Amino acid sequence: MIRFENVSFAFAANGTAPVTVLDKVDLTVGEGEFVCVLGPSGCGKTTLLNLAAGFLFPSRGRVLFDDAVVVAPGPERGVVFQEAALFPWLSVLKNVEFGLKRKGLKGSQLKQTAFAYLESLGLGAHAHKLPVALSGGMRQRVAIARVLALEPRVLLMDEPFSALDANSRERLQDELLRLWVTNRRTVIYVTHSVEEAAYLADRVVVMGSTVEGGIFADMAVPLTRPRSRTDDGLLAMKARLRAVLATQPCCIQPLISPRAM
Ligand SMILES: Nc1ncnc2c1ncn2[C@@H]1O[C@H](COP(=O)(O)OP(=O)(O)OP(=O)(O)O)[C@@H](O)[C@H]1O
Ligand SMILES: [Mg+2]
Repeated sequence: MIRFENVSFAFAANGTAPVTVLDKVDLTVGEGEFVCVLGPSGCGKTTLLNLAAGFLFPSRGRVLFDDAVVVAPGPERGVVFQEAALFPWLSVLKNVEFGLKRKGLKGSQLKQTAFAYLESLGLGAHAHKLPVALSGGMRQRVAIARVLALEPRVLLMDEPFSALDANSRERLQDELLRLWVTNRRTVIYVTHSVEEAAYLADRVVVMGSTVEGGIFADMAVPLTRPRSRTDDGLLAMKARLRAVLATQPCCIQPLISPRAM
């Protein structure tokens, strides 16, 4: 469904040589798959997602959606960012209605559709509030409702729950899985958390910095659903992912103690 063919991407820095972030990446994500992209900070996960979304374009190679080259963002590829990007001056309901209006919905159909998606994410009682009156987790649920309402074929999610407390994060992960099981939309979910990847994904694509800008492991998650967070199989999967990540150099260096200087 989404295919990266020999994709390289470099950020052109002012006056200096371009910085290669992705180098000859090949990746195919099939219809209905839940793929997590895992990797350390700065390895190019967001860049990969932005290429699939059509916010960025490859320096070399191509990104295809249903065999057509991605040339722009499109409603069939819904993006959820790390921070809920809501319009602060619009009510929760109007935020969800915004994209639906652009899709041509009007009147009661517009209101009912937006409200149904809010209800499915437990936000019916908050429809007329402004985003500022919601918690971070609730705002993120609005952002998800807004994207789901457009019925995208692919959900592109960039660390969508990483700013939340552990409890809210786990609840939203379960909510996302419930929706995914119901609708079977394709999901590409960026994370730096092995817990999240092992719990959510059918398949984990691991990016790292050893191979310049590349995918260095592509691992199936051989666990049935629904999964338990304390299941031995899940713990074993987390250990495997940790071991793979540990082969990559880390950008964080131990602090040198002042006494040793
Ligand atoms: N606009 C930009 N201009 C120049 N370099 C950039 C730009 N955006 C990102 N980069 C560089 O590209 C690399 C990959 O960035 P990217 O945001 O894709 O990483 P990431 O894996 O999503 O990291 P994180 O986990 O911290 O979000 C980084 O080294 C970053 O410094
Ligand atoms: Mg990122």
